[in-house]
Order: sequence, then C-alpha cells, then structure tokens
Amino acid sequence: MLKSTMTISIKRKKATLVLSLVCFLFLHCCQIIAQVNYKVDINNVKENIPPTLWGLFFEDINRSGDGGIYAELIKNRSFDFPDPYMGWKLDPPRHMYAKHEIFQVINQSAVNENNPKYLQVTINNPEKISLANEGFGGITVKKGMGYELTVVYRQKTSGINLKFELINAENKSVGSTTIKPSSTDNEWQTVKAIITTKDTIIKGKLLLNFEGTGKIDLDRISLFPSDTWMNRKGGLRNDLVQDLYDIHPGFLRFPGGCIVEGKTPNTRYQWKTTIGPLEQRKLISNQWQEGAAGKPLPDYFQSFGLGFYEYFQLCEDLKAAALPILNCGLSCQFDAAEVVPMDEMSSYVQDALDLIEFANGDVTTAWGKKRAALGHPESFNMKMLGIGNENWGPQYIERLELFREAIKTKYPYMQLICATGYSPNPQFHFMDSALRKMNVDIIDEHYYQTANWFLMNASKYDHYDRKGPKIFLGEYACMSTRIGSPENKNTLFCALAEAAFMTGVERNADIICMAAYAPLFAHVKDWQWTPNLIWFDNSTSFRTPSYYVQQLFSMNKGTSMASITENGNVIAGSDSIWASAVIDKHTGEVIIKLVNPSGKGKAKKIEVPQLGNSKSTATITVLKADDGNAMNSLGQPLNVVPVSSTIPINNRTISVALPKYSFSVIKIRS
Ligand code: AHR
Repeated sequence: MLKSTMTISIKRKKATLVLSLVCFLFLHCCQIIAQVNYKVDINNVKENIPPTLWGLFFEDINRSGDGGIYAELIKNRSFDFPDPYMGWKLDPPRHMYAKHEIFQVINQSAVNENNPKYLQVTINNPEKISLANEGFGGITVKKGMGYELTVVYRQKTSGINLKFELINAENKSVGSTTIKPSSTDNEWQTVKAIITTKDTIIKGKLLLNFEGTGKIDLDRISLFPSDTWMNRKGGLRNDLVQDLYDIHPGFLRFPGGCIVEGKTPNTRYQWKTTIGPLEQRKLISNQWQEGAAGKPLPDYFQSFGLGFYEYFQLCEDLKAAALPILNCGLSCQFDAAEVVPMDEMSSYVQDALDLIEFANGDVTTAWGKKRAALGHPESFNMKMLGIGNENWGPQYIERLELFREAIKTKYPYMQLICATGYSPNPQFHFMDSALRKMNVDIIDEHYYQTANWFLMNASKYDHYDRKGPKIFLGEYACMSTRIGSPENKNTLFCALAEAAFMTGVERNADIICMAAYAPLFAHVKDWQWTPNLIWFDNSTSFRTPSYYVQQLFSMNKGTSMASITENGNVIAGSDSIWASAVIDKHTGEVIIKLVNPSGKGKAKKIEVPQLGNSKSTATITVLKADDGNAMNSLGQPLNVVPVSSTIPINNRTISVALPKYSFSVIKIRS
C-alpha cells in the first residue's frame, strides 16, 4: 500500500515536472515568436539606386568570343592565323610536296595589311581532294536547321566546283551544297548558300571537296547558324545572349579584362581594327592563348567578328549602358608591363576621342559618319569610358592625366573610370589616394577572394568617404580555393558569400555606381580561368548559382535604399545572416534580401512598421540546397535554382525560415 502511494506521488511529481517544462518551453517559444529580430525602415530611404548598379563584364577569355558567343563555326576562316592551315586538314592527307603543288598560301600584306593571306588552289588532274575544317572543338549542328555558308573566292582558271558537306563523327554527310563559281573576271566574289541539315551533329566538321580542274583563290569560308540572336547575319549565339538578357544587366563592360592591355602594346585591343567589313578587321592572338589556370590554347585568336560596333549593338539589345575600356599606354602589368613613352601617347588618347565620336557623334562627324554607314545613325549614347584595365603605379597616373585632360575638355559629360590594379595589392592605397586627390569620377576595384573574405568584408563600404569618387566594382568572384587555381568551383556557398558581400554593395549604392561578376563565360572544354558565371559547350549552357545571385539582385534592385537593422545595427554576419533592403517606387514594393550561408537554418521575424495593410502576403524567392558544395552542370543545369512561394504577413511582420545555405528575396507590396 505504502509502496503504491509512493509510486503515485513520484508519478505526480514527474507529471508536474513535465508540465512545468512544457509550460516553460511554450512560454519561451511564445517569447521567441513575439520577439522581432529585424526592422525594415521604409520612411528613412536614402538616395536613389543607380539603374546601372548590377551589370556584366565581358572578355574573350575561356573561348567566350571566338568559339563562344560569336556564332562563327569555322576556325581560321580566312587562313590568317600565323599557321594558315590551323583548323584545316587535307583529306586524304598528302605529303608536303604533293600538298604544296595544290595549295599555296599567298601573303599579300602590301595589298591588305589587316587580312593579308588567302589560299590558292591549283588542280591539274581530276582526283579526290578535300579540305576539312574542325571548327572549335568540332562543329555542332542541329537537325533541320539552315546553316549560312559564305565563300569569298576569285576564279583564275575556271573549272573547279566547291562542294561543301557537313560531316558527322562517322564521316556521314548530314547536309551539303555545291558552289559553281561563275565569275571569270579575276575579281573577288562573295557567294552565299544555305546548308540544311537532316541530322544533329555533336562533333563534326565541314568538308570542302574540290571537283574538276582549274585555279581558284579562296579567302573567307564562313558558316553560321541561321538562328542567331535577333536573326542578325553573322551574329551572336542566341542561347548565350539570352543568358545575358535574362539577368537584365544595368551595363555591359567590354572588351575585357587583360586583353585590353595586351601582352605587349602590339597585341593590345585596338577598337578601330574591330569595326567595318570583316576583311578589314585585323586578327590578333588572344592573350589567353597561353592559358592560366587551364590549358594553353595555341589556336585561340581574336578575329573581331564581334567588334566594337557589335558590342554597342549588344548593349542596346540588353538595354544596358555601354562601358568600353581602352588601353592606357601600358601592357599587362602581370606580364611584360611595357610602357608606351609619354611622347608617343597621342594616338592612344586620339583613339579615346575618336571612340566617343564613333559612339555619340553626329552623322556629320568623321566617326559618327562611319557609325551611320554601319547601320546606326543614332547615337549609342555612351556616357562612361574606362581608361586602362588592371593598371597601377605612377606610370598609370601620368598617362591617365593625358586622357582626362583631352576627354574632359571635349566631352565634359564623359564619366571616366580609373584603375587601381588588382585589389587589395601593395599599390592599392597609393592608387586610391592619388585618384581621390585628382578627384576622378569613378574608381575601379577588383576582388578575386575567398568566401571568408567576402563575408568578412560585407561592411567594407559602410566606411567609405561619401564625398569622394564613386566606386565601380569592376570584377569580383569568390574563389573556392584561391585565385588562379584550376580547382576553383562555382559552388552555392561561393555564390552565397558573393550575395552576402552584395548586400553591402546595395547598402552603399550611394557611392557604388556599378558592380560586375567576372569572368562571364567559359567553354567547358577550353577554359583558362575558373570560376565563371555561365558555362557552355557548342550547343548549350548552364547558369551557375552565382548567376542566379546576380540575377536576383539585378531583377530586384529597387529604386531607393531602405534600411534593415537588428537593434539599430546593419545585419552583416550577426547569427550568420547578411541582409539589405530597398524599395521600388515604380511597383510600390519593399524588397528584402537575406543571406544565410551557414549550415544551420534560422527563423527570423521581420517587422516593416510602415506597412499599410495588417494582413496580406509577401512573395519569397529562395536559392538554396542542402549542401553548400552544390553546383549546376551541363548534365544537371537546374540543380540549384531559385524557387518562389508566398508567405503571410501578420501585423506588418513576417516570420521567415531562412534555410541553411540559402539566399532569400522577399517582396512586399506596401
Ligand atoms: O577576369 C579574368 C581576369 O582577371 C581579367 O582579364 C583581369 O582584368 C583580371 O586579372
């Protein structure tokens, strides 16, 4: 009996204990639920967010240009590579003596300095003779599509017909056309034809069969898909431009990057040789030919089929402000670092003045007239120009002075972007203070750093001088290993570190006028640099988690900076959360961005006291995965993508779950 009474009493005590514990936990939970973590202030909005804030950096690196977005399928189409047969193979192969009896490369630099070589073909005996072009890692074509062939020829002795075939890996033809040269007046002719394919080829070639006997000169042999961007003949790859378009970029920086500087001044990018008829565009080697993190690519050249006119046109298509960068009289300072003497700088400065006239000048001006002749009488409305890429030192400053004086005198409205080299570097402080003393318009900073650096530096711009020059974050990307390593991967965690940093950029959009991830594109087989925003092969592409971060910021940039705080402080790492807030005056939305790069989910209550409605919903778009190492790939392009849903708003407050490894964008209609 006593035993059973004791048992009951112990049971009661246990029950009371459990009940108290439950009550305690319940009350504690209620307290947590009631507690607001973050406050968004939409009354105290600061400054306008520049429409240019989030943009793109394009450079022909990783086969981004030739072999990438420029849709030409033929490698070395004009036989102008230093090895004029590069990309071309005699089929069947012959001994050199036999080959040179039939084929001769004529180099006539006195006639056309920019496009000196062509191929002369002499066939005396009818036999099977073909040349095959391997394209860029193979020629890829889609079933049922038209491919536009262009041949520039000059017939010396008539009799040779040119039969072109698209051949698959099994040497089977999937489409062909025959060109029968008609003109015999010893003049260059351009002839066009369409090859319609009856099958898809992943890795094929273009075979040119010579039929009959005679003598013919061949200069350009070119093949483009007919589904180029905006159906422009000889234009850009539709799918890759679409990738850019879908980011809604505020600006496009071109054409680089290190290729602006050149390995030496001779191989610098010179915009004047990239416009006009293709035969006037002077091919040069690509600075990335030697490789960097990736393998060397001896066949990497710049044909400039994608030249300055096409870049301006692309900016217009993307509704992005044009931001060209010009060489400043210094070649790549990571390479030979050659310096152009001050008394030879005038042609460099003149190039800059002429570029502004080319972009904006009236059709009566010399360069405006050239633009109009290319099909664009209207101004391209260029407002910014970069002087130099990653350059530094007093030698940069004195050359910059020359550009500034000449440009500001003639075009006072032109905003000049000034280099500081790669940051942070030992020269950065010297450069930064020299440029601030000069009171330049915009200072260009580049950061290729680890995730930890990006997370730790998200408040870096909170302390910048508000009265000095604006900042252009010209290149940045998170390295999963270290800069220059071939092991760098485009992981979700890296993208989240960038997103955390970008909340700091957004919070400081009063002084940061532009920012761009770099580099933009990489061919999965032929890259020199990693990580990159978009990876592609010859037929398709995939968007990295960093791409989606860029897109989410760009498409939700708002018009004015609001504030989101925790106990009055900016949210930059406390409890492993980074956050920013903006409002969009056009849509009436409050937009909140929250980054949780940690491996733990977080629950937060966000109050927007000035919200008009007490009960409604917000949309939340989340980029996340269970593993911070998650990536996208050609095989799994949609492994990490943003997903949208709605969440309730009660009493102007949102309770939000921020999953581990996530970036969330909340949009509230105010
Ligand atoms: O984005 C790749 C390279 O990094 C750029 O060409 C150069 O500006 C920087 O060093």
